[in-house]
Amino acid sequence: MPKLNENYLNLKESYLFSEIAHRTASYIKENPDKPLIRLGIGDVTRPLCECVVKALHEGAEEMGKTETFRGYGPEQGYVQIRQAISDYYKRHGAAVDIESIFISDGAKSDTGNITELFGKGNRILIPDPVYPVYVDSNVMCGNAVTYIEGNEENAFLPMPDWSVAADIIYICSPNNPTGACYSTEQLQEWVDYALKNKAVILFDAAYEAFISRPGLPRSIYQCKGAKRCAIEFCSLSKTAGFTGTRCGYTIVPKELVFKSSTGKKMSLNAMWNRRQSTKYNGTSYIVQKAAAAVFTEQGERECRENLEYYRGNAKIIMNTLTDLGISFFGGVNSPYIWLKCPNNMDSWDFFDFLLNKIQVVGTPGGGFGENGRKYFRLTSFGTHENTAEAMKRFHSLFFSEPIDK
Ligand code: MLT
Repeated sequence: MPKLNENYLNLKESYLFSEIAHRTASYIKENPDKPLIRLGIGDVTRPLCECVVKALHEGAEEMGKTETFRGYGPEQGYVQIRQAISDYYKRHGAAVDIESIFISDGAKSDTGNITELFGKGNRILIPDPVYPVYVDSNVMCGNAVTYIEGNEENAFLPMPDWSVAADIIYICSPNNPTGACYSTEQLQEWVDYALKNKAVILFDAAYEAFISRPGLPRSIYQCKGAKRCAIEFCSLSKTAGFTGTRCGYTIVPKELVFKSSTGKKMSLNAMWNRRQSTKYNGTSYIVQKAAAAVFTEQGERECRENLEYYRGNAKIIMNTLTDLGISFFGGVNSPYIWLKCPNNMDSWDFFDFLLNKIQVVGTPGGGFGENGRKYFRLTSFGTHENTAEAMKRFHSLFFSEPIDK
């Protein structure tokens, strides 16, 4: 009989979005005639941009001809897309060379798999609330986690406690789920703290394209010294509608060198390269070709139009919540609106309440950590029509009886 990884016993029974899908499916089964609006998981509704679709077609054509057919590609990704990403970073004031860029199938896998590079006994800081993959993937390895508290007092942007050391620090900015975004000064403080502690920051920038306030950092490499302490993850899922197409990238700078217990130098870039070439055969050529199109002038323009569309939805949600006197965070530099559950309700109760009363699905804040228990996340990734209809339903549900804040 195999000995199992019993750390799995310490996980919640199902992953947050699987639980939501399960509850929603049972509701639909019992109420097939009630039209449901999904503003839960951050799944996009705008189709792929024209130039991305063209690149997909071209890639497929190339794969169908002997002269241009390709088999296994480089595990790290093709040079063309890695160069396009490096140039994109340059345009945003960060220098990232192509050897540090690894193309993947999205940020979820890489933020989960990165735990393999680290040993046991690290002091791991993870914000609460935050994207549940960081905590779950550490629980799977049997790692203990120290939470750093995000709350209204710190505008959901926890800062380092200099009196306590750390080895690994997760940061997600703009934050999923709260939408809070660190300023360059705040992020620099985390970088300085990590450098002082010889710690590594695992920086999730999946929502960088949603930043609309000028001056906010879109990459941690805009901070001084970050290449000596930070790995950055990014994804085209939300930026370019790749939730189904799948493509992301992880940046592991060559400067990230630490010492083993015997004093031997170990490069995280070399380790990640070794890990990827052993366990990953690369993102498909066709998808990488499409991803490269995202970084062209036309691609950026077309993606921006979609981002504007979602910003329009965020405005509809924010205006409705303001009208109803429901307090919220996010929505400006993020596709997510993080609202306070009315009447101090628990977030899963609020989830059931909205599902049963107005058939709107959102994400209970409790799924992102203890500090989210009284909050609820709505996404702006729906269609205009559905978002407007969901907010009409919110209005009719809450307007007759003003809500206690
Ligand atoms: C979310 O809704 O938080 C995201 O869509 C989940 C993900 O990106 O994996």
